[in-house]
Amino acid sequence: MPIRPDLPPEPDFGAPLDPAHPSPDTLRLLALRRSTPVAALVEPGPSAQDLDAILRLGMRVPDHRKLEPWRVLIIEGDARIKLGEIFAAAHSLRDPDAPEAKLADAMRLPLRAPVILCVISSPNHHDPKKTPVWEQQLSAGAVCQNILIASQAMDWAGVWITEDAAYDSHVHAALGMSGHEQIAGFIYLGTARENPMERQRPTVSTKATRWTG
Ligand SMILES: Cc1cc2nc3c(=O)[nH]c(=O)nc-3n(C[C@H](O)[C@H](O)[C@H](O)COP(=O)(O)O)c2cc1C
Repeated sequence: MPIRPDLPPEPDFGAPLDPAHPSPDTLRLLALRRSTPVAALVEPGPSAQDLDAILRLGMRVPDHRKLEPWRVLIIEGDARIKLGEIFAAAHSLRDPDAPEAKLADAMRLPLRAPVILCVISSPNHHDPKKTPVWEQQLSAGAVCQNILIASQAMDWAGVWITEDAAYDSHVHAALGMSGHEQIAGFIYLGTARENPMERQRPTVSTKATRWTG
């Protein structure tokens, strides 16, 4: 059963907050967390109340100069069918010779999970103090990961994917994106019909080395 969010109220602006939060549960989640392959996601998906909590937590990310350089489209129910039509049209524009079966596959992509959160990187290029666009894009990535962690902490399975659609200008236009926006990820959320297996992980000692000058 999904864990019903019982979140503290949003702190008032300027309220003092704890600098650290000792939390064995969080450590355990991070130590064992695993995305679920999209093909293994089924109904049910997070409720509207769950999504409110997931998005509130998801957007609580580092954000240089508080530009909020991201936004999220919640795509569920029949909207997934419309998204599938957009994916199929985009596929056929990319590959006019694509057989019907490929277009049908593209049409079904959004139906793989009950809920899709499309995280859009929306950097502010006119920031007078010029927060680098790269930093703004990183903040959008942080939203994706926070969404994944918050969802999994609420007992929902999920995966962050992009696939061709995320880079397709027809998809961008159909989703109402501006020219400067990019899709940071489609976060597919639902219930896992089978447990994911551990994947290969990096060896910390080779990826992190002590710099001594
Ligand atoms: C930006 C981004 C895009 C990704 N796009 C895809 C994708 O299109 N297809 C795919 O199978 N996995 C994709 N992945 C990888 C999945 O998220 C993958 O299942 C995940 O990295 C598994 O790691 P985890 O179990 O530690 O979450 C993407 C990951 C990132 C960060």
